[in-house]
Amino acid sequence: MNVSYELFLIIPPGLEDLAKEEVELKCPVSDIEVIKGGLILKADIDWISEAHLRLKIPTRILMRLTEFKVRDFPKLYQKLITFKWSPFLSHPSPQWEISCTKSRLMHTGRIEETLNDALKEVLKRQPLSKDWEKKNYTPQTFYIRVYDDVLTLSLDLTGEPLYKRGLQVIKGEAPLRENFAAAFIFELMKEVSTPVTLVDPMCGSATFLTEARYFFTPLHLRKFSFEEAPFFKGKMIKKTEEAKSFPIKNLQGFDVNQELLTKVTKSIPDSSEIKLQHRDSLQNKLMDEDFFMICNPPYGERIKIQGKRGQFLSEAWNKFLTIDQPLRFGWLLPSDMDDLFQNPKGYKLSTKRHLKNGGLAVTFWIWIRE
Ligand SMILES: C[S@@+](CC[C@H](N)C(=O)[O-])C[C@H]1O[C@@H](n2cnc3c(N)ncnc32)[C@H](O)[C@@H]1O
Repeated sequence: MNVSYELFLIIPPGLEDLAKEEVELKCPVSDIEVIKGGLILKADIDWISEAHLRLKIPTRILMRLTEFKVRDFPKLYQKLITFKWSPFLSHPSPQWEISCTKSRLMHTGRIEETLNDALKEVLKRQPLSKDWEKKNYTPQTFYIRVYDDVLTLSLDLTGEPLYKRGLQVIKGEAPLRENFAAAFIFELMKEVSTPVTLVDPMCGSATFLTEARYFFTPLHLRKFSFEEAPFFKGKMIKKTEEAKSFPIKNLQGFDVNQELLTKVTKSIPDSSEIKLQHRDSLQNKLMDEDFFMICNPPYGERIKIQGKRGQFLSEAWNKFLTIDQPLRFGWLLPSDMDDLFQNPKGYKLSTKRHLKNGGLAVTFWIWIRE
């Protein structure tokens, strides 16, 4: 039987429930504990490998290595030199992410020094294999969290965050993070069985549309940190098949920025599945058929909008709901504008989710046509 590890999946706060549903759907495990900003679960190396390919909502996955009570630096050093680093360490100069709360040890600089000293001693006693030099490995990141005098040491298994999919590199001026887009699409498509067309009327880099297309596709277009760890040595990531897809028949994006659309179209793999068209979405009815809409309009921060932002956004919202009338409408905007978007006629509110996007409080709404 494979060894089971304790894992912590880092999730953007506000998306934990959707991330849990995603794990249950794609790589189920027996117990998942949900806490603010993450999921805690136990799983083996095959799961770790599957999860990195399949899960689209988490930011990264950490492996919890050890936990001990510590209130002074000599004890910290002792504990660190007796810890068995060899199954986990792939590079002699790892990076440390240190945080301390409510503890005697609060000086992160001295904790880092102690970590480096201890690791030097450990490497003297048990030299590291030279793979890191020969194969040009990337330094790993260890997370050190001291809370209430208890230190938890974890290893980052992911490397670059999971939302860096390696799928599409061209981005507009205010792109949405891929894992947010994936979560919102997942929520919009809940309990849908009849194929629909999905439209993003202000698509920018087409993040919603690419995430909708690849939500169920296992992706291994970049390297993950755990692939270089000794505990993974000799193993290979198994490329699993696409299990299913959303019931979406067409993916259609519109934007006024022609230059961006041309670049994005070239950069999307298999771009024939995602249609992007230059168009002002506030003019005329967009579609002749029934469809779902999802939209992250300009907030007026990075992308300037003509006139007052409140006026532009409420005009856009009204136009979409009265003229275009999508079957479902997902709408993402800063929460300080919530008052503008109340009780649209002919629609019922299905979701009003509050979260932070790049430090800004935002609301993700879904209305369903009655
Ligand atoms: C916040 S960005 C969308 C970002 C997108 N979700 C992404 O991940 O890249 C808003 C987009 O709306 C577009 N836009 C603004 N007014 C528009 C209009 N009237 N019709 C179509 N697109 C518009 C802008 O060009 C910009 O690309």
